[in-house]
Amino acid sequence: MTTTPTDLPRLEVCVGGLRMKNPVTTASGTFGYGQEYDRYFDVSCLGAVTTKSITLQPRPGNKPPRLVETPAGLLNAIGLQNVGLDAYLAEKVPFLRAKQVPIIANIYGKSADEYAELARRLEEAGAADAIEANLSCPNVHDARRARGAVLVSQDCDAVAQYTRVIRSATRLPLFVKLTPNVVDIREPALAAQESGADAVCLINTLLGMAIDPETRRPKLSNVVGGLSGPAIRPIAVKMVWDAAQVLKIPIIGMGGICRAEDAVEFLLAGATAVAVGSMSFRQPDAAVAIIRGISDYLVRHGFSDVCQIVGKVRL
Ligand SMILES: Cc1cc2nc3c(=O)[nH]c(=O)nc-3n(C[C@H](O)[C@H](O)[C@H](O)COP(=O)(O)O)c2cc1C
Repeated sequence: MTTTPTDLPRLEVCVGGLRMKNPVTTASGTFGYGQEYDRYFDVSCLGAVTTKSITLQPRPGNKPPRLVETPAGLLNAIGLQNVGLDAYLAEKVPFLRAKQVPIIANIYGKSADEYAELARRLEEAGAADAIEANLSCPNVHDARRARGAVLVSQDCDAVAQYTRVIRSATRLPLFVKLTPNVVDIREPALAAQESGADAVCLINTLLGMAIDPETRRPKLSNVVGGLSGPAIRPIAVKMVWDAAQVLKIPIIGMGGICRAEDAVEFLLAGATAVAVGSMSFRQPDAAVAIIRGISDYLVRHGFSDVCQIVGKVRL
């Protein structure tokens, strides 16, 4: 029997008001601004492109070495290198708009007001279809951390305050990206929900460190970095599942997604959409194979709509 297009399962999802034609986006910082991958595949096939974190001013990032391979992952301390808001608007948005792919603009600020300004200006410029507030970058040394404080998303009151301030600055769907470096992910997730987030993104990287025994020095110039890749997948799946038990808003799941089966794990755990991160470095068109593989999985298991498997892990 041949499969006609009408037999194909529906892949469309709605994440906090953002319509995606399939549940697959890219993880911030692993896909540039989309254009970098255009020679590998047509990025308009993605459910959305999530950008590298955008800051008000350009940032050079940390000194090299900034990336270390680990047995099942990648340790990075890029330090939010990015072109800054003005260059993003002038140089990056035209490509993405021409592609007609939804843009999830990931933003990072040194204060709640900076996040709010970024969100407001992105909306005014028509340069985002959703905002993803990165409240969880482990690789920057801003004033808050210099005082010995924690990442914003390690502090539920700060999550609530930042989310409220950003919420009041934009009508765009607001996604809050949280750190896994916490005891109970449900607490910051609920704080984001109660303060006006439309979705949460789980997970950012786990803090890690690698030391060269020969030189006795840390392998990263930043000393510590964020671990991503397959090594963190079971932790990410568990955090998505934990959060899905208590949240009403949707979750975008990520962490070590390499193949369609991995993406399906996140959907079954309760994610409405997923993001492909470090795997894009190894296989630039991994996201395309994952979209196709999710569809094949649904056909194989007799589902007509991807939403039918969201949160449907059998316990
Ligand atoms: C090199 C690199 C740079 C990253 N930069 C950002 C960033 O700028 N903003 C952000 O929110 N997350 C950033 N992340 C985290 C990813 O978006 C993602 O949450 C994490 O890597 C887990 O997914 P993965 O295991 O599939 O890579 C970065 C990850 C990597 C590996």
